[in-house]
Amino acid sequence: MNTALAYFSVTGHSKKIGSAVSAALQIPSMDLKTDVIPAGLDCLFLVGGIYAGKSDPRLLQKLEALQSGQPGLVVLLTSSAAGSTRQEQVRELLASKGISVHPDEFTCRGSFLIFHLGHPNKTEIASAVAFARRVLAEVSA
Ligand SMILES: Cc1cc2nc3c(=O)[nH]c(=O)nc-3n(C[C@H](O)[C@H](O)[C@H](O)COP(=O)(O)O)c2cc1C
Repeated sequence: MNTALAYFSVTGHSKKIGSAVSAALQIPSMDLKTDVIPAGLDCLFLVGGIYAGKSDPRLLQKLEALQSGQPGLVVLLTSSAAGSTRQEQVRELLASKGISVHPDEFTCRGSFLIFHLGHPNKTEIASAVAFARRVLAEVSA
């Protein structure tokens, strides 16, 4: 199973979550500020945050370049100040391109200004790793 992880991080939390997950699963990691998602992936873990209620437009622009059905499956991991917001715009965009998105999405808090300082914390990072392990085992079976 050709699996990788990509993140788009404005303040560093997605990078932190993504680095832990890619290290634990021993999969390549890409920074979507600079890197391009390669063709031929069966599964892509995609880590991002929420800004003014939305995904960063630069992430959406990057995803616009994907071909139909590539990657075979995208799995979302999301941090936000609210803690439970999902990357709905990413989901909609990928669906419109014929790319499957796993129904489950990992969500946790990410600090913003003085709110929720320290998040994502060790426990949340460990939960993100556990989520990714579970989903990868499920889709590899
Ligand atoms: C400019 C800006 C706007 C944000 N707007 C929201 C928001 O509308 N709702 C929310 O729950 N979190 C919001 N946040 C918090 C981020 O979603 C959170 O910090 C997330 O962990 C950022 O991920 P990153 O560090 O990978 O960029 C905002 C953060 C920034 C910097």
